Amino acid sequence: MNIGVLGTGMVGNTIGSALVKLGHSVKMGSRTKGNEKAIAWAAANGANASEGTFADAASFGTVLFNCTKGEGALDALHLAGAENLKDKILIDISNPLDFSKGMPPSLFVCNTDSLGEQIQRAFPQIKVVKTLNIVNCEVMVNAARSSANDRGTMFVSGDDAASKQTVIRDFLTPWGWDDVIDLGDITTARGTEMMLPVWVRTWGATGNGHFSFKIVR
Ligand SMILES: NC(=O)c1ccc[n+]([C@@H]2O[C@H](COP(=O)([O-])OP(=O)(O)OC[C@H]3O[C@@H](n4cnc5c(N)ncnc54)[C@H](OP(=O)(O)O)[C@@H]3O)[C@@H](O)[C@H]2O)c1
Repeated sequence: MNIGVLGTGMVGNTIGSALVKLGHSVKMGSRTKGNEKAIAWAAANGANASEGTFADAASFGTVLFNCTKGEGALDALHLAGAENLKDKILIDISNPLDFSKGMPPSLFVCNTDSLGEQIQRAFPQIKVVKTLNIVNCEVMVNAARSSANDRGTMFVSGDDAASKQTVIRDFLTPWGWDDVIDLGDITTARGTEMMLPVWVRTWGATGNGHFSFKIVR
């Protein structure tokens, strides 16, 4: 299928390449067409990889990945354009990290709201599915990257049940996530976004970003 990846950072790059490997055609979006990182990514990923603006990528994709910086996510989606986003699944990987006071970052929205909800409220006609935001991007596209024999648990949050099932079937399962918990509506993204302070401190304490969280029942 045609997929729009909004974001030119390491997440957009890694997700975009993994999507091409799954056989999809992918357009990477940026604030500006001809972004240096997007051009390099497209050149490295063959005929099914292209680049353009956020609006180009949103209009190209039947499914979209939001891989933009948390503080810029809403602006990026406004640049993408509500008409281009309408009725599409938006897999939201962004985190509301606030680095303004240095490390470790805090969250600019939490407890009673989340970035996933802010996006869903701003664009009621998109189907936001929050997932993958709790692991490093190399683990996102390869659950076995953290531990081949003891993969972690992935969560999905979103108001549309069918969209969550599509995301699990088309992306999470091929990337090796065999233990997925549907937490419920988009308000449950508060929980997974608030795992980031634990993620950051685990990374700080161990020096290893290639880990995942596991729910043991
Ligand atoms: N790094 C990881 O492994 C990891 C893991 C889990 C979740 N995440 C989350 O994934 C997202 C992407 O992370 P990243 O490290 O790949 O990249 P990033 O540096 O956080 O974000 C890069 C993208 O954000 C866009 N952007 C930045 N400021 C913007 C603004 N004010 N308005 C509109 N767009 C803006 C950039 O646009 P241009 O292309 O125009 O520069 C670029 O496409 C973040 O929300 C991060 O918290 C990252």
